[in-house]
Amino acid sequence: MKLWAGRFQKETDDRVNSFNTSLPFDRRMYAHDVAGSMAHAKMLAAQGIIAAEDAEKILAGLAGIQADIESGKLTTDNDAEDIHMFIEAELTARIGDAGKRLHTARSRNDQVAVDTRLYLRDEIDSLNALLRELIETLLKKAEAYADAIMPGYTHLQRAQPITFGHHLMAYVSMLLRDVERMNDCRRRMNVMPLGSGALAGTTYPIDRRMTAELLGFDEPCANSLDGVSDRDFCIELASAISIAMMHLSRFSEEIILWCSWEFRFIELDDGFTTGSSIMPQKKNADVTELIRGKTGRVYGDLMTLLTMMKGLPLAYNKDMQEDKEAIFDAVDTLRECLVTFIPMLDTMTVKRENMRMAAAKGFINATDLADYLTKKGMPFRDAYKISGSLVGWCVQNDTVLEDIPLETLRTYSSLFDADVYDAIALETCVRTRVSEGGPSPESVLRQIETAKQKLEVLFS
Ligand code: ARG
Repeated sequence: MKLWAGRFQKETDDRVNSFNTSLPFDRRMYAHDVAGSMAHAKMLAAQGIIAAEDAEKILAGLAGIQADIESGKLTTDNDAEDIHMFIEAELTARIGDAGKRLHTARSRNDQVAVDTRLYLRDEIDSLNALLRELIETLLKKAEAYADAIMPGYTHLQRAQPITFGHHLMAYVSMLLRDVERMNDCRRRMNVMPLGSGALAGTTYPIDRRMTAELLGFDEPCANSLDGVSDRDFCIELASAISIAMMHLSRFSEEIILWCSWEFRFIELDDGFTTGSSIMPQKKNADVTELIRGKTGRVYGDLMTLLTMMKGLPLAYNKDMQEDKEAIFDAVDTLRECLVTFIPMLDTMTVKRENMRMAAAKGFINATDLADYLTKKGMPFRDAYKISGSLVGWCVQNDTVLEDIPLETLRTYSSLFDADVYDAIALETCVRTRVSEGGPSPESVLRQIETAKQKLEVLFS
């Protein structure tokens, strides 16, 4: 029998029951549903809306239900329409009439809104903890490889020399922004919808500030229609997660390249790679390919949420039940990706010599050669042209800029001197790129310090 059975003369069709139920996916919010109901019951009693003894029975009953779900003694069955109905029905079965008083001055519409916010708030905290772990792993590696020279790329063509530490710190910048986005999202999520009722508030003398405080919300939501029909917080979280996934996906793409025989910049630990069923030589970076693939799936979750909401009149509509699978999938996917990605990075081997060798080819010191002439007084555009001609000369003569004889250099410009070789040596090119945020080891170490301070503040 449904809790709302009064108005109906017939049982719900089985097909509708199984189509309508959200229990298979909203059961994960059971602890948050219990927490929300406990706060509501305490407030009702404090305001004299229900008797103190009833509130006590409700609190004890709810605690028992939570314990039994956790121990596996109580399993959620599919007869209930959702986790809210399931817990309320179970409570009434256990404590009788007092259980029937819990839903006074409340609707499932404000109940589901509060549960989802409580649940996602916890998920944000646990995602942030993982993002922090990833950042710390990267900081450790960046410090160890602050002076490891590698080619920096644009258009996937070797461009200018950087360091591996510098490259990793770019991802630290992205991930710090991801944490900030999560925090922003959490702050806006942290308003309390209970007391909105079904849509139009309630005639009972409730105290929304008390409930908000009991549940750790900053304040009650300002408008009851918005309180029950706002799902911005899911959309905002899905977009923050999408951006974080995009970052992991770019990183994954680079790792896939770096692991290839064409690059050989890193090698992943055996425990984090897979083989081929037919090609014995294979060692594939499947984890990173899956992360890249799952990014599309998370974008799909975001699109689901945006599209689901775009045509809904105020206030609650059942369409909104579709929010959960999408946002839960986004949360679960980012979590799984981070849980695997962190130890994979932590255990990778970095092949300094290969990076150094790749940096020595591709004329990535051509800008430095131009800068050498510019610093001796030649306008940069002219110096740029000479450097380009010298690259052409190297290609024809199968050599590199640092091996061109001085006599040859002088036929291009009399400004060339013996000090040019030191000026365009890779180590010099990297060491002297000391501009703030640049790739020199010194600059990278400064970036690491700043990032550590930022991390402290973000998690204080
Ligand atoms: N399971 C529903 C959901 O997830 C709960 C709210 C139902 N409210 C209603 N009036 N049918 O959205």
